[in-house]
Amino acid sequence: MDVIIASNEQEAGRIAAAHIAHALRGIERPVLGVATGSSPLSTYEDLGRRIKEGSLDLSQARAFALDEYVGIPADNPLSYADTIRTTVTEPLGFDPANVRTPDGMADDIAAGAKEYDEAIKAAGGIDVQILGIGNNGHIGFNEPGSSLVSRTRQVCLTRETREANARYFDDPADVPTHAVSQGLGTIMEARKVVLVALGEQKAAAIAAACEGPMGAHCPATLLQMHPDAVIVVDEAAGSQLQRKDYYADVQRLMPEDQRVVD
Ligand code: GLP
Repeated sequence: MDVIIASNEQEAGRIAAAHIAHALRGIERPVLGVATGSSPLSTYEDLGRRIKEGSLDLSQARAFALDEYVGIPADNPLSYADTIRTTVTEPLGFDPANVRTPDGMADDIAAGAKEYDEAIKAAGGIDVQILGIGNNGHIGFNEPGSSLVSRTRQVCLTRETREANARYFDDPADVPTHAVSQGLGTIMEARKVVLVALGEQKAAAIAAACEGPMGAHCPATLLQMHPDAVIVVDEAAGSQLQRKDYYADVQRLMPEDQRVVD
């Protein structure tokens, strides 16, 4: 696990995007795992800059969103399907036919979730999974206590997650109680994971994820077992890390031929 502390949100986005672009280099039809939330927005912006400059092309790429609320139709602006459309599909020039979100409106959610995992597999697996992190250490909507080998499935949201996400809804009572989320086992199969965390409210979760004991109490700790995970934080989100000096040394002393950040 590489931990990179950026000085602000824009720099975090540039670093995360550099890792994503580097990992996708030479892949003809890359497969991205994409996340909603505010954390990856500067990353998407920087990917957009690279596309505009001609150093990155995602027009043939496919994308699988991490999660979706249960009971919110895809054409509702509060759905994650719609959020992915406006933050990823359209600005980054994906063919909408190549972008999928779990179906939170399916009659048979379990069957849809199983099919979603199969579709990821059929696409050849995810090359790079972009992640945010919840204040409680969740990734996707895998709340504390999630099985570390879970697959895409319906999950019940914690009260703290519903409270954190209430800012998007007119009435907090409208926040769905359930979601469909890629499982931790699904996420761990991505060949590379790039997690972005911003702001003081993520500091405890980031310290636990990077330096705490691994366990279901903080699902993001599982990334310690991932062979190629990069955690990009701003100074506030990294403020409770104990080994900041070492993380800075790793970047500063990195051999030239291993440098990813341009
Ligand atoms: C939601 C999403 C997560 C996201 C998290 C943090 O609960 N399911 O995928 O990482 O919120 O959101 P934000 O980046 O807005 O802080």
